[in-house]
Amino acid sequence: MIDVADKPSTVTPSTGTPVMSQEGTRADSPWLRLSPDPEVVRLARDHVLEVLAENDVEGIAEDIRLIVSELVTNAMRAAQRYASAGGTAWASYERPVSLRVICRPLWVHLIVTDPDPVTPASAPADLLDESGRGLSIVDSIAALQWWVKGDHGKACHVVVTHEQVTLKPEEAEMLRERVIL
Ligand SMILES: Nc1ncnc2c1ncn2[C@@H]1O[C@H](COP(=O)(O)OP(=O)(O)OP(=O)(O)O)[C@@H](O)[C@H]1O
Ligand SMILES: [Mg+2]
Repeated sequence: MIDVADKPSTVTPSTGTPVMSQEGTRADSPWLRLSPDPEVVRLARDHVLEVLAENDVEGIAEDIRLIVSELVTNAMRAAQRYASAGGTAWASYERPVSLRVICRPLWVHLIVTDPDPVTPASAPADLLDESGRGLSIVDSIAALQWWVKGDHGKACHVVVTHEQVTLKPEEAEMLRERVIL
């Protein structure tokens, strides 16, 4: 298992109470598991907009939808490459890419996992390039972006702050260390 899922917070974030559902439980979205099919990227985009709307996230919703689109597309390509390199293909019932959207009062944290343990090596390309632009777009919007490698793949983490919000260094560190989710 990749060591990213559902790690409990061991400290209370200094940034306010997590968004609560009407029942008073944390309204975190579950993992959305996706097959590596370009058609399915649309489901991921729809899902993220739904979660953001449920959590009353408005101003940054389009930016987040764009990031999800880029990350999920990349993850699907990585999953396909990984399977081809191993001489296999994904069965139609397999869901090797996952997405989780975590809404917090000051930021939205996205996690996209795929089964390929290799993380992108190069620095993001120029935004004016014709391809290789996805990660540059993410880089230009996100407050934080990092990768976590696991035994069976990797996770890409992206944090987008709400408008007029700047992450404190200690918040950035706690997010990167996955002390707070
Ligand atoms: N999840 C991933 N796993 C492995 N490599 C990745 C992953 N995401 C990106 N990469 C690598 O980083 C490169 C740059 O990604 P980026 O999204 O910026 O561009 P692209 O996907 O090549 O083109 P575009 O996004 O413009 O269609 C990719 O070509 C790929 O080699
Ligand atoms: Mg891309």
